[in-house]
Amino acid sequence: MTPNDLDALLRETRTFAPSEEFRRQANYNDESIYEEAAHNPEGYWAKQAENITWFHEFESVCRWDPPHAQWFIGGKLNAAYNCVDRHTLTHRKNKAAIIWEGEPGDSRVLTYDMLRREVDKAAHMLTELGVKKGDRVTIYLPMVPELPVAMLACAKIGAMHSVVFGGFSAQSLKDRILDAGSKLLITADGGWRRGKVIPLKQNADEAVEGTPIEKVVVVKRIGEAAQAGMNPTRDVWWHELMENAPTKPFPAEPVDAEDYLFLLYTSGTTGKPKGIVHSTGGYLVGVNTSMRTVFDLKDDDVFFCTADIGWITGHTYIVYGPLSAGATVVMYEGSPDYPDRDRYWAIVEKYGATILYTAPTSIRMFMKWGPQYVEKHDLSTLRLLGSVGEPINPEAWMWYHKYVGQERCPIVDTWWQTETGCAMIAPLPGIVTTKPGSATKAVPGISVDIFDDDGNPVPPGHGGNLVITKPWPSMLRTVWGDDERFRKTYFGKFEGIYLPGDGAYRDQDGYYWIVGRLDDVINVSGHRIGTAEVESSLVAHPAVAEAAVIGRAHEVKGQAITAFVILKEGHTGSDDLVAELKQFVVEQIGAMARPEEIIFTADLPKTRSGKIMRRLLRDIAEGRVVGDTTTLADPAVVEQLKSQYKDQE
Ligand code: PRX
Repeated sequence: MTPNDLDALLRETRTFAPSEEFRRQANYNDESIYEEAAHNPEGYWAKQAENITWFHEFESVCRWDPPHAQWFIGGKLNAAYNCVDRHTLTHRKNKAAIIWEGEPGDSRVLTYDMLRREVDKAAHMLTELGVKKGDRVTIYLPMVPELPVAMLACAKIGAMHSVVFGGFSAQSLKDRILDAGSKLLITADGGWRRGKVIPLKQNADEAVEGTPIEKVVVVKRIGEAAQAGMNPTRDVWWHELMENAPTKPFPAEPVDAEDYLFLLYTSGTTGKPKGIVHSTGGYLVGVNTSMRTVFDLKDDDVFFCTADIGWITGHTYIVYGPLSAGATVVMYEGSPDYPDRDRYWAIVEKYGATILYTAPTSIRMFMKWGPQYVEKHDLSTLRLLGSVGEPINPEAWMWYHKYVGQERCPIVDTWWQTETGCAMIAPLPGIVTTKPGSATKAVPGISVDIFDDDGNPVPPGHGGNLVITKPWPSMLRTVWGDDERFRKTYFGKFEGIYLPGDGAYRDQDGYYWIVGRLDDVINVSGHRIGTAEVESSLVAHPAVAEAAVIGRAHEVKGQAITAFVILKEGHTGSDDLVAELKQFVVEQIGAMARPEEIIFTADLPKTRSGKIMRRLLRDIAEGRVVGDTTTLADPAVVEQLKSQYKDQE
């Protein structure tokens, strides 16, 4: 079964009510919170904002001038102060903020007080390098403690960070540096992945050529084996600067609630990634709230989120959410199967993780590996499980429930996006009865609906476009440098209504079942990739005339990339060329965009107006009977492709 097979989802009838024991201890166990928040969303959010320390109180809660929202207007705050400094003034001063484990087995614990000293030194260091409020700093680091330290140091100054996932290629990093206009890059001599070195510094060297980057700060993670050359006029070692940085506290810059905290690139339907911009006040209130509501966070929780900080899940649920709430987070550098397939469970046991947040693609991989790896470890500390990134198929949900949660832990399936900042549709685990495969309903303070293509809400029992009908604090503010794209992409279809781009179905109980993307964005192992990005990288190869890329169902990855390629005159398809093209895409974008298969074809199915019919290509790749081809310019193309696909399989 494919993860987003709606028919299978709709046959799902199992339900799981919170246990009495969980309900009793939950932060929220009274349904009235939903009604209260729906009745007065601004009042609800203003109340949640009391959990944030403001240097200057906000004067009004929300101004909505579609598509632009402002939240907590007039308020002044600092995100790093909220995530670090304020906890050092409480009983949390010597509490573990970050428990970090490196892939080779090394580890580091930073208490809130130690984290404050690191962040302050880093803020001094960045200031001495010329970073000022409003500047953008690009960060291209592996999952090492210096990554959250660097982000928080930017926040302390009031500079925006733009974290680029370490799996991206030199070219992708370059595009993101240019778009952001960063003058400073923070990287490392490498990162560890399955015992091998990821050559981050070599990629960085290639990427900064021809960009405004003046200085590159290099974290020493690998040492000798890294073979990372230093450019004496441009590169500086992080540890040397940190050793020499002043040890005195760095005063947190009070920024306006609406000042930008960071930008983070994500894929859209065109070849150019979008720099999603988040504000400081709204984002922080949103993410902080969801720690208490969706994750039922308590002071003694140990929160293990397996995402990479290079994606929004890591920004929100490793850095800003847990730290603003004063939690202990577990951060792991490497791969789940290194040195063996029980690594996550060993980490849960070793640090006594109480909440685990991971992705369906990982769960499906664990299922494939078998329960013996989970059963080897004592997971009795776990009390709550989370899922994010793609639809979770009911069988993966049940496996997670049975083997990891030991039928004791509620599961919060959280639907959200880079753009939404934090979880939008998810159960409150002490209140909502869950159904395997459904993210259940909108969290308090968030209004979602399903619209047909004309903008009418569909009745229960129907599907359509998932929409968010009211503004919310942690919503994106714009697309960096392209407000028109922001307006068109998210508010162009229905006026004043946010369009996430996902299809969803609402059942008779009002539960939401997310079906997947409705646009040309695919989700490979929880990584969002634009088909246009892969296509434009393929056509940049000298042998390629035209390419069409689709996501086809994949048992573990959710979706896998299939590329249909038309070669230029004089080139013939071969296994070598397939390998070369796959490698070409990896070099242009990154390993997560590597096509699973490449099909050479003489033609592509197009409508009479010349639009590639991806739906048909998907049908072919997934081996289904091909649907309606009457609008096709040359129906013979489909037959030809179908037989070719079979031959090449
Ligand atoms: O299609 C939805 C899917 O991931 C997309 C957002 O991707 P990204 O911005 O990279 O953020 C991922 C982590 C928040 C969405 O448009 N998605 C995310 N969570 C779920 C999901 N689909 C179904 N169920 C989910 N829980």
